[in-house]
This record gives sequence, C-alpha cells and structure tokens, in this order.
Amino acid sequence: MNKTIAILAGDGIGPEVIAEARKVMDAVARRFGHSFIYKEALVGAAAIDATGDPFPGKTERTCREADAILFGAIGDPKYDNDPSAKVRPEQGLLRMRSTLGLYANIRPVMSYEALEDRSPLKNNVISGTDFVVFRELTGGIYFGEPRGRTENGNTAFDSCVYSREEIRRIAHKAFQAAGKRRKHVTLVDKANVLATSRLWREEVVRVGEEYPDITLDYMFVDNAAMKIILQPTFFDVVLTENMFGDIITDEASVIAGSLGLLPSASTGDEFALFEPIHGSYPQAAGKNTANPMGAILSAAMLLEYAFGAIEESKAIRDAVASALEEGSVTEDLNADSPLSTREVGDYVAGKVLEMKEVAE
Ligand code: IPM
Ligand code: MN
Repeated sequence: MNKTIAILAGDGIGPEVIAEARKVMDAVARRFGHSFIYKEALVGAAAIDATGDPFPGKTERTCREADAILFGAIGDPKYDNDPSAKVRPEQGLLRMRSTLGLYANIRPVMSYEALEDRSPLKNNVISGTDFVVFRELTGGIYFGEPRGRTENGNTAFDSCVYSREEIRRIAHKAFQAAGKRRKHVTLVDKANVLATSRLWREEVVRVGEEYPDITLDYMFVDNAAMKIILQPTFFDVVLTENMFGDIITDEASVIAGSLGLLPSASTGDEFALFEPIHGSYPQAAGKNTANPMGAILSAAMLLEYAFGAIEESKAIRDAVASALEEGSVTEDLNADSPLSTREVGDYVAGKVLEMKEVAE
C-alpha cells in the first residue's frame, strides 16, 4: 500500500518519540513492501512560536490531505505557568479534535505480564486486564457554551453540554467494538447528579437495543474510579463522556505499568489521529530518555484502524512485547540498566525486521 501520514510531533518529548514511531513504521514498510510518505506539520507551542497559532491552517490542510495523522504531544511550561496567556498550546489540540470531528477517543488498557511486578497494584489484581475506553472527545465540559467569567471577574463557569446525536454516534462505535471483544459495555457516568449523564443513559440504552447480544451495565464515575484499580478485569468496553474519560484513563495507565506505554486513536467519520496518551513531559525533552512505546503502539493502532493492516499492527505489538520481556526499555520501566529512547526504537524496528527472516 501507498499511504501518506501527517506527522504532528508537537512539543516536549513529542518529536523524540514520534521519530521512533516513524522508524518502526519504516521497518514495517520494508518488511511488508509498503510505502509511507510523511508530511510534517506544526502544532502546539512549536506552532505558536512559529506562527502565533497552535493549530495553523497549513497544519489543518496537511491533516485533511493525509490518509492518517500521527501526533506526538502538546504543552509547554512557559504557558502552563502563565494563566493570562491568550493563546495556549492545548487550544490547538482541542481545536484540532473539534475541527477534524475526532469524536471517539479509543484508549486500550492492558496489563503486561513482564511488567506486573512494576505496578504499585498487586499482580493478582491486574493480571489479565484487557479493556478499552471509548472517551467522547469533542463535547461535554471541554467545549460547552457558555463558559468564562462574569463581568466583575469574580465568578467563573463551564458548561457541560451533550446532544443525543453526540452520544449516539460514539455509543455505536463502542457497541461495535464490544461485538468483536467480550460483548460487555459499561457506561460510566454521574446520572445521580448530572442531567447530561441522564441523557447518556437514555440514549445508550436505546442504542444498546440494536445490539441484543451485548451486555450493557452502568457505573457511577466515582465507583468506576475505584473498580478500575480494585477489579480491572471486570471491564471490557468502557463508554464515557469527555472529562470522565480523561481522568479514568490516566488512572488506568497505572495498570499497564507506565503512562509512557499507552497509545490511543481519535476517530470520527472522516479522519483518524493516533497519539500516545502521555503529555509533552518537558523535563525530559531532548534528553533521549522518554519512553517511545506509547508512540510506537499508536503507530500500530494507526496501521490497524486507519489502514486495516492487522498483520502489520500485530508485528509491532509483538516486537514491543518482546522488548518488554527482555527488559529493553527506557528508564521509567528499568531504572537499573535503561536503554535510551532511540535504542528502544532501534530494538523494536530491528525485531520487526527480524521476524521477516523467520517468516521467509
Ligand atoms: C489528553 C490530555 C488533554 C485532554 C489535554 C492536554 C488538553 O490530557 O489527551 O488526555 O485533557 O484531553
Ligand atoms: Mn488526559
């Protein structure tokens, strides 16, 4: 296949981890005889510095013209510590999600046997965890209007707003995914307090009627936050709104052993973007120490979700698994004898190519 991939490396460790993901994609291209063309574009603080806009028109065009988008990370402390900053890198990310209609954020969470001892949670609790969170990404309190301050500036407000249609379209995606998994959807909400959550329940029940072989249950988000670390194997597909999904997926990353391991896909009806769930980790930027696995596994998700390249995606996941088993990992996972970011990328790319020799 011949595909064009927009590369939005962004800020902090973004460029370093995306370079390794690209290295691994190139190994896949060699092994399977594909051709990937990369088109780089600016986003986040890097884009503000160059153009004054965290998601410039040129970047949007590059995204629209590509077959898929690979994204690194966004955020820079020089904006975090300045509440009066008019333009913030995160606005670029939110505008990008909204403009490209990326309403379904898919975040798989699993335990890796090789890393179970590293998790602060007990082995017997996390062993066998394998669930996926469908986080709504373009609605809710992140985008609802009105938002802002009253005239005297002494009161601030955000609005959580959802329409039936916004709920329906992601619910369908979650039920379809459950059909290919263990046929269990858990809707996480706060229906005992929030009107939007009650609308979610109403609509999700309706959508669920179209999928009679899928079990649907509900959990309040506070209870779900507890259940995720007490009994993570309970979950198969978790369906939830924007902010609840943001919070519980950071929490769930503890199960995998490191935030640096988790990939994600943000999909809509037209475009798809793939990114590690970690942030820009500015303290590590430029040090060649950041964990590139989240970005590499995001490339694996890209191959599967955007290009239907299942075997190629599995080749990457297998290579990552063997790196984890052999301890060929960065310092967050192996403080005693860590590999660098680039070495981990070399290892995984090498494994992908090595499997070729075995296959031949
Ligand atoms: C994420 C991040 C973003 C979010 C931030 C950077 C705006 O935390 O992708 O989870 O809250 O959605
Ligand atoms: Mn987050």
